Amino acid sequence: MTDLDLTSKNPARIGADALVVGVARTTDGPRLLGDVLPGRAASALTALLPALGVSGSADEVVRIPAVDGVAADVLVLTGVGEDLTYEALRRAAGSAVRSLAGTEHVVLALPAGDAAVVGAVAEGALLGAYRFDRYKSSDPAPVARVEVATPAAKDKAARAAAERARVVGAAVRGVRDLVNASPAHLYPASFADEARAAAEGSAVTVTVLDEQDLADGGYGGLLAVGQGSVRPPRLVRVEYAPARSRAHYALVGKGITFDSGGLSIKPAKGMETMKCDMAGAATVLHTVLAAAELALPVRVTGWLALAENMPSGTAQRPSDVITIRGGTTVEVLNTDAEGRLVLADALVAAREENPDVLVDIATLTGAQMVALGNRVGAVMGTEEVREQVAAAADAGGEQFWPMPLPVELRESMKTPVADIANMGDRFGGMLVAGLFLKEFVGETPWAHLDVAGPAYNDAKPFGYTPKGGTGMGLRTLLGLLEAAAAR
Ligand code: BES
Ligand code: MN
Ligand code: ZN
Repeated sequence: MTDLDLTSKNPARIGADALVVGVARTTDGPRLLGDVLPGRAASALTALLPALGVSGSADEVVRIPAVDGVAADVLVLTGVGEDLTYEALRRAAGSAVRSLAGTEHVVLALPAGDAAVVGAVAEGALLGAYRFDRYKSSDPAPVARVEVATPAAKDKAARAAAERARVVGAAVRGVRDLVNASPAHLYPASFADEARAAAEGSAVTVTVLDEQDLADGGYGGLLAVGQGSVRPPRLVRVEYAPARSRAHYALVGKGITFDSGGLSIKPAKGMETMKCDMAGAATVLHTVLAAAELALPVRVTGWLALAENMPSGTAQRPSDVITIRGGTTVEVLNTDAEGRLVLADALVAAREENPDVLVDIATLTGAQMVALGNRVGAVMGTEEVREQVAAAADAGGEQFWPMPLPVELRESMKTPVADIANMGDRFGGMLVAGLFLKEFVGETPWAHLDVAGPAYNDAKPFGYTPKGGTGMGLRTLLGLLEAAAAR
């Protein structure tokens, strides 16, 4: 784990392994940011930047031997791009620290004048430092220590921002570790154990419903999806209930620990990344833990809908009719549309406690990726909550784009044999899935987040985002709770 501190020392004088300086891309060429280097060294280096291949573009990281007046061994130039936004600095810090794995002590001298920028830089650094090495015999260690240089190092607001960054860093790491875990090791019961272990010593209480509890409670969606696996489903409830609370938020996460598709089996290629299908549940778990860690004055209940979707002689069949908790019947036409079935049970359970707001997050549809790609999540639901989610995402450096729930698509899920089918029109498949969930939220203000693309990065790492689990959505949900706390 990476330690993070703020320092008001002159960053050039710190004898670290590496000093990181930002480079902006301007119409007049690359420009060094902040007066970090002594004047002559700065102008000499600036003149050399083009020859060093430095343009200042985002995600460009170039290491050179330290120049005159720099006490660190190595000088690292990290591109910020054209606009000095919080997110640009977060990414620049992230790519630098990510590319410095194997290095012990790194000083970040990005322009960080006030608490908000300090928070963004610290967050980017911690998210970028992440590495998943559980199954590697040998791998470079993450950067051990990051110092963020800022004149505001002693200010209360800057220190609070750094503390928040530590909490966010730990939470995102928790999500990524769960997503990256092999599904041989992470299955519903072991996920529930992980939740219990993670909550130990915190203000969060964990309740686990096992297969018998689920049968007694009429959780037909979780049971049907889980029945093809030798590893039975679980519903985990995590709760943070502070003495003073402004509102009650219920968060529901899809937790399919592996999605083979079931009898409606996926092709081999489509299955390769399906250990990520529990990212929503991992995000909910760590959002609740982070809210407790930050002592937010908001009550939060999290619901992890955990099952493994496998084909077998006991698996559910296309055309099976199942009963969701609360009595709604569903004709399962495609066993690969399993997420909505486990979410339906969990949404009903969450709603029974009368929360003020209901939010679910799920790697729900391939159609989400067709619509928005791998970096932008979708948000649907009640207008007010949907807009609050989009605003929280925007403020925190994640992208969630509002999508409609056109009522006319509901018709495509009509079936003569049950209340609803688990499949409808292929076109607008993400919206159809959203409309299916809408059947189970009643009048509760609600948002549905589809993160099928952004939860898992199958391509190259970028900014503070590694390959594999990304933790996308956590900062948005936490920001949503923080906004509720501030209202
Ligand atoms: N877990 C998948 C969605 C998914 C696809 C997530 C790719 C991440 C990457 C989900 O359970 C699924 O299989 N959805 C089907 C639904 C269809 C059968 C109605 C889909 O989107 O194809
Ligand atoms: Mn599926
Ligand atoms: Zn799935």
